[in-house]
Amino acid sequence: MALSRSALLASLMSAGLLSVCCTPAPAPTPAAPPETHAAEPIVDPHSHANTEAFRTQLLRLDLTVDFDARRLRGTAELDLARIDGAADTLVLDTRDLRIDRVEVAEREGAYVATDYELGAADPVLGSPLRIRMPAAAARVRITYQTSPEASGLQWLTPSQTAGKAHPFLFTQSQAIHARSWIPLQDTPLVRTAYQARIRTPKGLLAVMSAENAIADADTRDGDYQFSMPQPIPSYLIALAVGNLRFQATGRRTGVYAEPEVVKAAAWEFADTENMLERCEAIFGPYRWGRYDLLILPPSFPYGGMENPRLTFASPTVITGDRSLVSLVAHELAHSWSGNLVTNATWNDFWLNEGFTTHLTNRIMEEIYGPARGNEERAIGANDLKDTLELLEIPSDRTLAPDLAGRDPDDNVTDVPYEKGALFLAYLEAKFGRAEFDAFLRGWFDSHAFRSARTGDFLAYLERELLARHPGVVSRAKVDEWIHSPEIPDDAVWPQSDAFDRVDRSRDEWLGGATAASLQTAQWSTRQWQYFLDRMPDTLDDAAMARLDAAFDFSDSPNAIIASRWFRLVARHQYRKAYPAMQRHLESVGRMLLINPVYRELAATPEGLELAQAVFAGARDGYHPIARDAVEKILDRAVATPAP
Ligand code: BES
Ligand code: ZN
Repeated sequence: MALSRSALLASLMSAGLLSVCCTPAPAPTPAAPPETHAAEPIVDPHSHANTEAFRTQLLRLDLTVDFDARRLRGTAELDLARIDGAADTLVLDTRDLRIDRVEVAEREGAYVATDYELGAADPVLGSPLRIRMPAAAARVRITYQTSPEASGLQWLTPSQTAGKAHPFLFTQSQAIHARSWIPLQDTPLVRTAYQARIRTPKGLLAVMSAENAIADADTRDGDYQFSMPQPIPSYLIALAVGNLRFQATGRRTGVYAEPEVVKAAAWEFADTENMLERCEAIFGPYRWGRYDLLILPPSFPYGGMENPRLTFASPTVITGDRSLVSLVAHELAHSWSGNLVTNATWNDFWLNEGFTTHLTNRIMEEIYGPARGNEERAIGANDLKDTLELLEIPSDRTLAPDLAGRDPDDNVTDVPYEKGALFLAYLEAKFGRAEFDAFLRGWFDSHAFRSARTGDFLAYLERELLARHPGVVSRAKVDEWIHSPEIPDDAVWPQSDAFDRVDRSRDEWLGGATAASLQTAQWSTRQWQYFLDRMPDTLDDAAMARLDAAFDFSDSPNAIIASRWFRLVARHQYRKAYPAMQRHLESVGRMLLINPVYRELAATPEGLELAQAVFAGARDGYHPIARDAVEKILDRAVATPAP
């Protein structure tokens, strides 16, 4: 058994490495139903679970990680509160699970087998698992195994890792993929504490979104225990297994990564503790104990994922100049907006991401100054404008989409993030920063460890801000922000001097200026991104060749800059850079960096053919979620051929 948590704490404290934390984690509170529950039960269109009858209070996992079979095997135990005394069936979410046995027990009694039935698989939701619950049953234990194709798991061969010597596994539960590796009530309406025992091959380390023992080399016995005492929604349950090392970056912060990466990661994210302190000063206590980062291999399909206590991050944010640390600010901010106050359904997604984007910009400004804050806002607003033109369904351009029948992963666009943040920036401008910061802090404090709907926020806004300052912002204006597919006319668009300079440089370049005369040496990733994104649509081969020769974009070690370049390459069919573009699509699996390139390629028949060929070679290296997303882009292009 690896070092226990208390033994670890004791040894760290005696070594003077850890002082007693100033904000102790609260005792687990029972998963409270959202505030509006009494009025009308909330239905989550993305879950089969009968949450009006039962609520999970504690989840216990005991899983063995089998890399050869690409399966997790073991048991999930759920302690349940019975809300409806007459209910005799518990319905859980599953996807592609093989269920071997289901047992029930009274709170302290022994387990006995019970009847169960796995329903037909819905393409979006998966299969409901219906379990017969005798009147006194308060627990269920499910013995199961996952499928090698589980949508929430990626099994990597050693060649897909930095060290090339050990396999790697990681989970991605958001939005509705937890059900592909755990049978559970997979809805953000329900919060539960969890405990886990994870058995891995010896020598590898398992980490989870929970209290982790920071195991060193000689305690890697392949048997690890975890506890998440705070109740969290299912989409935040996370596990990774690999050849991992840990390096501290502060009192409460550190990074886990493969040995080849850990030093660069610790340098890149040296500001994390500072960010944490600034967040606490503005938004209230950090309620999760530690905040660590886990750097994943390049196939991780997102930039970051806010798993509590342990953000998962793409290695593409390690650029060597700390220019993408806003990602850490973002995932850290989720410790308030998202993990503490959680969107009740995926229709309320902007409550997680719009708030977090606003908080990110706020923190970036706080730490690095107003210019940096404006850069982050400007890049977001710029992306939003492009996205609004792409989205055909009007409700997809609003903060209140109805995603019933659709995959919630399809709503991960700039709208919930950037339109949400623009709305909050508007309110901040109207009511003043001090007032608005305090208002947000009040929202987090009053809704801590709860799930909230958009309506809950609007009621709170009305009561705590609009009504107290009559005549500043009308309810009609708020409704316009939430329900209109447009951006209200009086939105406060960000303005950034750094980007204005980039606009001028781009004009000069297009007018024939030399690379040296542009003075780009100090440009940030964001400035390069903006330089490329606002290039005209009419560059010919000579202009593209001149760009690449001057700035070496095809060989950029910065995957963000490279991705923006390859978008242009695909759009302008600049064939000379196709081999480099193909290497990019084969080496990175972060959707933000590959999907736009595939989308550009798919816009012409020859491009589509190339995209299909590249995808055929690259797809095995992609995460199942990324695989699905690219498939959707290509299928759609086939179904609606370009003129
Ligand atoms: N929670 C999201 C990632 C996510 C959203 C996963 C929806 C699955 C479904 C995370 O916090 C996020 O927003 N990541 C961004 C980071 C960026 C905005 C700084 C990403 O991955 O690009
Ligand atoms: Zn986010």
